[in-house]
Amino acid sequence: MAKRIVNGILVALAMLVLLTTVGSVSAAPSVLNCRNCHSSVFARWNGSPHANTQADVASELSEERVGQTANDVIHGTDAEDCIACHAPTAVLVNGGMNESQALSYFFTTTDGKFTKNTTAAHTADWPNVACTACHDPHNPGKPSYFNSTTKKYEPMKSASELCGQCHGNLRFPDTDHLTYNIRSGTGGIGVPDQQTMPGVTCTDCHMYVSEVDGSNSAMFHGHSWKITVKEANGKNTTSCTHCHADMDTAKANAIIAKFKSSFQALDAAVQKNVTAAMNAMKGVENKALQAKLKEAQFNLRYAESDESGGFHNHNYLMSLLKDANTKALEVISALKGSAPTPTAIPTTATPKSTTPAPTPAKKQPGFEAVFAIAGMLAVAYLFRRRH
Ligand code: HEC
Ligand code: HEC
Ligand code: HEC
Ligand code: HEC
Ligand code: HEC
Ligand code: HEC
Repeated sequence: MAKRIVNGILVALAMLVLLTTVGSVSAAPSVLNCRNCHSSVFARWNGSPHANTQADVASELSEERVGQTANDVIHGTDAEDCIACHAPTAVLVNGGMNESQALSYFFTTTDGKFTKNTTAAHTADWPNVACTACHDPHNPGKPSYFNSTTKKYEPMKSASELCGQCHGNLRFPDTDHLTYNIRSGTGGIGVPDQQTMPGVTCTDCHMYVSEVDGSNSAMFHGHSWKITVKEANGKNTTSCTHCHADMDTAKANAIIAKFKSSFQALDAAVQKNVTAAMNAMKGVENKALQAKLKEAQFNLRYAESDESGGFHNHNYLMSLLKDANTKALEVISALKGSAPTPTAIPTTATPKSTTPAPTPAKKQPGFEAVFAIAGMLAVAYLFRRRH
């Protein structure tokens, strides 16, 4: 009881601190405000990729966006809104900016254009994927997404929906980061929908609730987004053990490695066959074969848009690759005579978990249905160049 009241007072205090700083000149200090009271969460976040995004954006701008203005990058023909995913609250810095202004404020240009010498600028103020990108300071308990275009918070139905704004096509239909979509097991062409671990959410694996004290947050470990975390006693814990009692860290890592290597071996072989089919089709006018080749390319690209390199919804990823392969081989054999010999695909047994998962899976059926539609829409856009 007393603790609740103390907490209440602290929250009220927190809000006072926040209200005096909201709309202030820089977004970086607002992260520092969170650190004052959530120092352990801050430390975890600070060591994670979410807190280290500026150098990546700078290097890509200097390689792939030479000669373009910030406005070209955000709104041009090959538009990609780097700010929205890599540092949404950057638009609050410097008295308030739009996304194009933020991009040219934080990355150097010459005559308004990015060059091969483009580097990061105003680094101390770059907010990264800040606390306030995922938490509305006025409603911190509910996962919220800060939309850098509208500069407003959008409350999320679930944490996975939050992840899917940037690691899926929920905000940008033509992104090539499609983990959220792959996890939902829909969207492939001619491949049956399939979920390897139905109902398991991003945060179940990536924001594991640790038993460790010494923090005012039960999610102390969660904010590293790592699957395997080091406990205070020095031991490693993997989030998989949460549901699979038969798995320790070593076993879990062995399964993860096995899933990834079987995906990567198959992916390499399928890439060769799809490329061979593309070469064989050069100059061939055949609508049916052209359509088949397109589907093969689509399913291959879709499988490769998963960010785990073959772990997420593993069985579905393998089905996408096998389908792409079958279609590529059909194209090649239809053109026999001119086409080269196809590459044999590797056959590997994939590991199974022996224990049924004791934790009931939390399902959100309405959500999956919404996604299925989004997945169909994504189909039309998937052929965009990978950034
Ligand atoms: C003055 C101290 C203080 C500051 C500053 C502060 N918080 Fe908190 N916050 C608290 C306390 C105290 C709680 C309640 C903790 C508990 O229940 O264990 C809390 C709870 C939370 C929760 C959980 C809410 C829930 O309902 O489960 C989130 C999320 C959160 N804070 C995020 C933030 C973010 C993001 C910032 C920076 C924008 C921030 N806080 C700044 C003290 C603070
Ligand atoms: C839809 C959200 C989204 C947009 C828009 C976006 N990124 Fe990313 N980006 C991500 C995510 C998510 C990752 C992490 C991917 C992973 O871990 O596999 C990432 C990773 C990267 C990386 C690391 C290498 C890689 O490809 O994994 C670079 C470099 C990068 N982004 C640059 C950019 C640039 C430059 C822009 C704008 C032109 C941009 N991104 C736009 C979400 C986005
Ligand atoms: C990429 C999104 C993201 C970022 C960035 C982020 N969080 Fe969170 N945070 C979450 C999610 C999602 C949850 C809820 C996890 C769940 O319960 O499933 C959460 C939970 C919390 C909680 C409540 C945990 C508890 O149960 O007590 C606190 C406190 C918190 N975050 C603080 C912060 C602070 C402080 C920062 C910055 C240092 C931060 N978060 C950055 C997504 C984020
Ligand atoms: C506002 C956009 C955004 C949201 C929301 C977001 N992420 Fe990220 N995430 C990124 C970006 C951008 C990167 C890559 C940073 C880089 O490497 O430049 C990233 C990186 C990661 C990584 C590490 C990738 C690597 O290559 O090591 C993991 C894991 C991750 N995110 C999981 C999550 C989960 C789980 C959620 C939901 C709770 C989430 N993210 C929400 C943008 C976001
Ligand atoms: C069943 C557990 C599980 C679920 C659910 C899950 N992931 Fe993962 N994720 C993993 C594993 C395991 C890896 C591979 C880590 C490695 O290679 O060490 C991974 C890798 C990633 C990476 C690349 C990180 C890196 O280190 O390269 C990102 C980004 C990511 N996941 C985001 C998400 C998002 C977003 C969701 C929800 C849409 C999600 N994951 C759901 C287990 C999971
Ligand atoms: C929130 C609970 C939960 C977490 C966390 C979790 N799993 Fe699972 N896992 C499940 C469920 C549910 C199934 C499906 C069981 C079934 O279909 O009988 C499953 C099935 C599996 C399977 C069998 C897949 C197949 O091909 O049939 C493997 C392997 C597996 N999980 C590995 C992992 C690994 C590795 C991790 C950690 C990265 C992990 N799981 C994390 C709940 C979970």
